[in-house]
Amino acid sequence: MPARLIDGTAIGEAMRGELQGEIRDLKRRGVTPGLAAVLVGENPASHTYVRMKGKACDEAGLYHETLRLPAETTEAELLALIERLNADHKIHGILVQLPLPKHINTQRVLHRVDPGKDVDGFHPENVGKVSIGDPTGFRPATPYGVQQLLVRSELEPTGKHAVIVGRSTIVGRPMAALLLQDGPGGNATVTVCHSRTRDIKAVTRQADILIVAIGKPEFVTGDMVKPGAVVIDVGVNRMDDPSLKKGYRLVGDVKFDEVKKVAGAITPVPGGVGPMTITMLLYNTVQAARQWARERDGEG
Ligand code: GUN
Repeated sequence: MPARLIDGTAIGEAMRGELQGEIRDLKRRGVTPGLAAVLVGENPASHTYVRMKGKACDEAGLYHETLRLPAETTEAELLALIERLNADHKIHGILVQLPLPKHINTQRVLHRVDPGKDVDGFHPENVGKVSIGDPTGFRPATPYGVQQLLVRSELEPTGKHAVIVGRSTIVGRPMAALLLQDGPGGNATVTVCHSRTRDIKAVTRQADILIVAIGKPEFVTGDMVKPGAVVIDVGVNRMDDPSLKKGYRLVGDVKFDEVKKVAGAITPVPGGVGPMTITMLLYNTVQAARQWARERDGEG
């Protein structure tokens, strides 16, 4: 029997609907959650992502600004812009789109973002909070979205063996932290594989839940998956396809046509993890605004 499709578009839309009540409450208290996206240079995929994030803010009724800077921007100029956004009361969340140009030190920039506005969850303070399960920390949007996909598809990770392929700071590592947590959406036994893992197939075949974020098109093939496993594909890769007008098509890190015959449930690309990432960015921006309003009103 082919795998059940996990529909990230539908789950993401439902979750954005659920967020509307809280956005209304905040507005009633005089707080419109605001997001600033900072984009440096001309990476076409980054421009697309930032445009989609802005559109999602508009649709949800959030305030947003996109700050587009030329590729030659110096690190000092970028740091000065972040300082300005840290002090701006209209802005509750700041997102610096990655990758940054090579002459800029990414860590230095990410560490300059006020941890209370770090809706990407990349500042060490938030990495630490997420690692110890402190709910005031911001969970990076992609792994947070994967966790929500599992919970809302009744694929609760508790007691399961979750194998993550990829150890990036944006997906693999925070994914492991979330699935390890003691609570709903967590309680998994977690293994993280990466480019140096020996006999990776022997490991991925043990997964009840296989999460793939390695950035290699169609890396996971049918023989790497245990029959009936849940497969979450975080990859977004452009593959040349001259038969299409735009000249490329999007494929994930999973060989979908092969793996869907083996898996019990699977996310498509596009329409799986992608819409959830944007949804969780909205959740994080609302969380930032809520925490800011609590502090303003002395609610602790
Ligand atoms: N580039 C790739 N993924 C992300 C992300 O989640 N946030 C930001 N800011 N940049 C990215």
